[in-house]
Amino acid sequence: MTARDDVAARATAGFQRVYASPPAGRWAAPGRVNLIGEHTDYNDGFVLPFALPLRTVVAAAPAAEDRWQVWSELTGETVSFGTAEVTATGSGTPGPVTGWAAYVAAVVWALREAGHRVPGARLAVASDVPLGAGLSSSAALEAAVLAALVDLGGLDLPAEQQPRLAQRAENGYVGAPTGIMDQSAVIRCHAGHALFLDCRTEQVEHIPFELEPAGLAVLVIDSQAPHRHADGEYAARRASCERAAKQLGVTALRDVPAEQLDDALARLTDDETRRRVRHVVTENQRVLDTVALLRAERVRQIGPLLTASHTSMRDDFAITVPEIDTAVEAALAAGALGARMTGGGFGGCVLALVEAAQADQVAAAVTAAYAERAFTPPTHTTAIPAAGATRLD
Ligand code: GLA
Repeated sequence: MTARDDVAARATAGFQRVYASPPAGRWAAPGRVNLIGEHTDYNDGFVLPFALPLRTVVAAAPAAEDRWQVWSELTGETVSFGTAEVTATGSGTPGPVTGWAAYVAAVVWALREAGHRVPGARLAVASDVPLGAGLSSSAALEAAVLAALVDLGGLDLPAEQQPRLAQRAENGYVGAPTGIMDQSAVIRCHAGHALFLDCRTEQVEHIPFELEPAGLAVLVIDSQAPHRHADGEYAARRASCERAAKQLGVTALRDVPAEQLDDALARLTDDETRRRVRHVVTENQRVLDTVALLRAERVRQIGPLLTASHTSMRDDFAITVPEIDTAVEAALAAGALGARMTGGGFGGCVLALVEAAQADQVAAAVTAAYAERAFTPPTHTTAIPAAGATRLD
């Protein structure tokens, strides 16, 4: 039995145990890694994530009244809420349902806010996407719940409109000011491809990203670093980018082309803001350069762009931590073609592009470097670009 069958079977078994009846269907959504383009999404810029084979599965059935009951394998608890709890100001103050169930209530809230008639439902959630590893377990949960409710209610919400709604759920009900990358990745990715997304227009292009035929692999190394102040720091970076855009008289930092970066920097007054802007503007350009290389099938050559992205996140955007930097340095020293932190920062995962034959050696080098510094040992997996959210049956 594959891991995918397993997690779906666990969701069904949980559903049957808790609700003493079979589900009407099962919906799955994956975790993601971002190949390149970090903290560019909320600056209306470019990102290039791909979905992972790790999935969250929701087994669900409609309920007679406007209530939502959800069981999670993770905690073994069943949370129940009605329309009274599906309320929020929508301006960043979290809604009344908290913890993991907030993501479920958030989706119901965002659908209702958008005018949809959301059916009451019973849900059971099982997941292989690790929590807190920066692989978008929250977006996976939102996307799987959203797909289930859209189907159960026969709602008119095509897949390409679902990321915006799931992002609204996270911003408006959970209270996290994230961009649209994660929700887009887990909903819109195709197997064997990375998703080139223009976060302003939401136009996508599926860029072939087959590693095995090229003799390559992407190692995803979980840094095991505790997320230190991640939420507050994320919000601070976002606010600083928005302030900079205002000072520069542009809608978003996306509107500063790389060739005009020096001019823009000269017009800013403090050094910290200059560094934040430099990261975003150069990172957007690195995404475009990476896409150009992938289109030309020059995959190995993206390595230096990945590493430059890391340096920029470390020195200019200031979002890395010692475990993450150690993993990147050790991977590069052991022969990785490129390596960088992926995701929001302050912990999470590092990805390293490696010759497939060297994957074990690179992973062992990272483990050894961790041992030298007495960090909690890292874990790793090899990423295969997978498909976005889908109905299983
Ligand atoms: C988190 C957010 C995304 C994005 C990344 C950084 O994953 O959810 O919207 O901003 O951080 O690239």
